[in-house]
Amino acid sequence: MLRSLLTASSLLACQALAYDQTLGFNGPALVDTWPLDEIYQMALAEGCVVTIEDTDEDALKKEFEGRFPGMNLNLTTDLSNFHSVRLDEQLAAGHVHVDSIAFQTVHDFPRLDAKGALFHYAPVGFDQLYPSMRDVRAAFYGILTVGWAGKWNTDKLPGIEPPVEWEDWLRPELKDKLVLTYPNDDDAVLYAFDLIMQQYGKSWFDRLLAQNPRWVRGTRSPDTIMADANSTWAASLTSDGLFPTSNVNVSHPVQGSFVTWLQLAAIPKDAPHPEAAKLLHNYMLTPEWQSTRGSWPVRRRLSRHL
Ligand SMILES: *[C@@H]1O[C@H](CO)[C@@H](O)[C@H](O)[C@H]1NC(C)=O
Ligand SMILES: *[C@@H]1O[C@H](CO)[C@@H](O)[C@H](O)[C@H]1NC(C)=O
Ligand SMILES: *[C@@H]1O[C@H](CO)[C@@H](O)[C@H](O)[C@H]1NC(C)=O
Repeated sequence: MLRSLLTASSLLACQALAYDQTLGFNGPALVDTWPLDEIYQMALAEGCVVTIEDTDEDALKKEFEGRFPGMNLNLTTDLSNFHSVRLDEQLAAGHVHVDSIAFQTVHDFPRLDAKGALFHYAPVGFDQLYPSMRDVRAAFYGILTVGWAGKWNTDKLPGIEPPVEWEDWLRPELKDKLVLTYPNDDDAVLYAFDLIMQQYGKSWFDRLLAQNPRWVRGTRSPDTIMADANSTWAASLTSDGLFPTSNVNVSHPVQGSFVTWLQLAAIPKDAPHPEAAKLLHNYMLTPEWQSTRGSWPVRRRLSRHL
């Protein structure tokens, strides 16, 4: 009861965007204008819990709970295709218990929205997102960018000319040094190789094989293997992280195409803790959170601080 009262009062306090660009199937977005700290008070009153299914690490939990004492972020991390099935099961059972979803299976979001399963809610800052990074009716939007980078361990390959274009990875100094994810292990890796071969032909891949790369499963494995001071493997082009760290430099081709994508997030329409979900989504779009992600911001006009 308390929750529905609070939800109703927040609906009154927020301004509704009263038009729909197509046929109005799923209704207009609720456009929030509240200061973060007022949403925080509402979320505390509601019960202090937000349950989220996410594919990211526990950093979000630490940051969110540190920024909003008393809140509990109940975060389940798993692979997106597992998460999306679980949400489908909750929808089928008529019992949604997650407050927020953040998946990498981009195709799930329009599908869920077409079922009427998503809350059309525009957090503060929504209008600052790049238009291609948000649904026009605020059913879902990007919170992070993810992408593959060319990477090399500068302790193991000191002073090399940075490999930038895809042809550069075929240079002799990278022979026996490359650690790569199997293209058939991850669809985004497969797409990266597909894009490269569309530009540079299948011969590019044959020459890559002649570099004698080590093939591994998972896109974190190349990082782990490159970082191991005792391994001779020193470079990769199939793992994420858009910016250099102390001994791993990073490049993106200028002529070549490369793969980046959005981590999308949404609030289920029947989320049991809508105020807490709003708080989380408003927080994730703040310039403060966006500019410290280690990825390119989804908001315009932000520089990145690490
Ligand atoms: C946390 O999330 C799990 C999985 O969604 C759920 O089973 C559990 O009840 C949640 N805990 C709280 C305190 O809401
Ligand atoms: C690297 O090898 C040395 C010598 O064999 C060993 O002492 C050290 O523990 C190894 N380091 C790692 C990270 O495996
Ligand atoms: C890191 O790589 C970039 C190319 O992405 C290059 O411009 C820069 O000089 C490199 N930095 C070092 C320390 O090698």
